[in-house]
Amino acid sequence: MGHSPSVSGSLRNRLVLSLIGGAAILAVLLFFVVRNYAAQVAQQGQDNILRASVTSILDAAAIREGEVEVDIPYAAFSMLGTASDDRIFHAIYQDARFLSGYPYLPMAAGRGRESTFATVSHQGEAVRVVTASRVLIADGKRTNVRVALAQTQDALSGQLEQISKNAALLGAGFFVLAILLSFWATSATIGQLKRLTDAVTRRGPQDLSPFQKPVPSEMLPLVTSLNSLMGRLDQSLGQSEDFIAEAAHRVRTPLATVRSYAEATLQRLDKEENRQDMRSMMRAIDESSRAAVQLLDHAMITFRSDHLERQDIDLAQLVDELVVRLTPIAEMKDLTLHYESDGPVPYSGDPILIQNAVRNLLDNALKYAPIEGTVTIAVSATPQVVINVCDSGKGFPDGELETLTSRFKRGANAEGTIGSGLGLTIAMDVASAHGGVLKLSNQPEGGACAQLLF
Ligand SMILES: Nc1ncnc2c1ncn2[C@@H]1O[C@H](COP(=O)(O)OP(=O)(O)OP(=O)(O)O)[C@@H](O)[C@H]1O
Ligand SMILES: [Mg+2]
Repeated sequence: MGHSPSVSGSLRNRLVLSLIGGAAILAVLLFFVVRNYAAQVAQQGQDNILRASVTSILDAAAIREGEVEVDIPYAAFSMLGTASDDRIFHAIYQDARFLSGYPYLPMAAGRGRESTFATVSHQGEAVRVVTASRVLIADGKRTNVRVALAQTQDALSGQLEQISKNAALLGAGFFVLAILLSFWATSATIGQLKRLTDAVTRRGPQDLSPFQKPVPSEMLPLVTSLNSLMGRLDQSLGQSEDFIAEAAHRVRTPLATVRSYAEATLQRLDKEENRQDMRSMMRAIDESSRAAVQLLDHAMITFRSDHLERQDIDLAQLVDELVVRLTPIAEMKDLTLHYESDGPVPYSGDPILIQNAVRNLLDNALKYAPIEGTVTIAVSATPQVVINVCDSGKGFPDGELETLTSRFKRGANAEGTIGSGLGLTIAMDVASAHGGVLKLSNQPEGGACAQLLF
């Protein structure tokens, strides 16, 4: 728990970025396509007028007395004149001979009546030029009349500028719309993931049942493996709980049997060295029973703490029962158990855990307090729910207060006593599972005090 996996980027950002990136490329493409198409259409318009003009000029051409005469009809120029300030140039040739107009006007390549168009530079300006020719026959002689008509492109480039502006606006509008859409699409997609996350988060810690709600097909594998993981977890959790209880029973019983045999044998031994060996053996048995009990208790406590089941209990009564149960053991050591409480102390917690914690504190008081001492146990509800166990011994060893709650940690004063160094660890784990703390202190007049603050 508390271990959070490292983050590698964000799905939302990745989606939004790729959608926006795609939209940007499309917007630029849209801009160029629209502009080019519109520019083509505009150019077509100018070309049509030029063609009509050059055709009307050619139509008006005639041969009079062997000389080509071209009257530029008014209609030809009035058509072209509509285009703002654009200037018009023309050049007329009879066969290869220049007749009138601008002699240096470039011609568009091409032959016959067909009009050919080109954009060329004339007098330092870009002009659109159309060239067409016509064959006139007079006195049985063929004469070729060729006309070039050019127009500057001021109006067209103004038009183009306008078109570009509109195309840019169109592209930008498309882009903005695409951004909005990509945010919407991303939220809708991520929303599905978030719904699943919420469903997992909302679950109680004991709830390991499979997910039933429908999910998008892409998420099905995830949910399926999650379900199977939870199934296995549920099964193995149940198994470990049973296993711990079973193990405790199976270890304790034979050890107790072995110990009683050893005790009986000790009675029958006469030789001092044999008796010594048997005492060492019994001590080893005690050590291993204690270690087994504490290890299994610790396992059970870790297990129960992981999914704490609280119930309403009276701490005063719970502690009282424990005191009653331990009184015979205290009496064997000539210790007095002094229990104080002022009425019931209602609390919501796991009674088995709390009982275990208090029993370990009492164990310690009985174990480390000198013969004929007093152990004071106090439970109170105000100002805070607290269970106090204080004894009249030498107290916790100096400088070790901070470390005694560590696993398997025994103090300098523990030499010669049976123990595994897990008692205070258990008490602390129980306290923190309930959101409380275990506080250790030494009284000024001597004696150790352990406090479970909930
Ligand atoms: N009431 C006490 N007075 C003096 N020292 C104590 C007291 N309670 C605990 N200690 C010290 O703290 C150490 C850790 O206590 P803890 O209960 O965790 O382990 P333990 O009693 O040695 O073993 P066990 O797991 O069997 O309880 C003890 O070894 C002892 O040195
Ligand atoms: Mg102990």
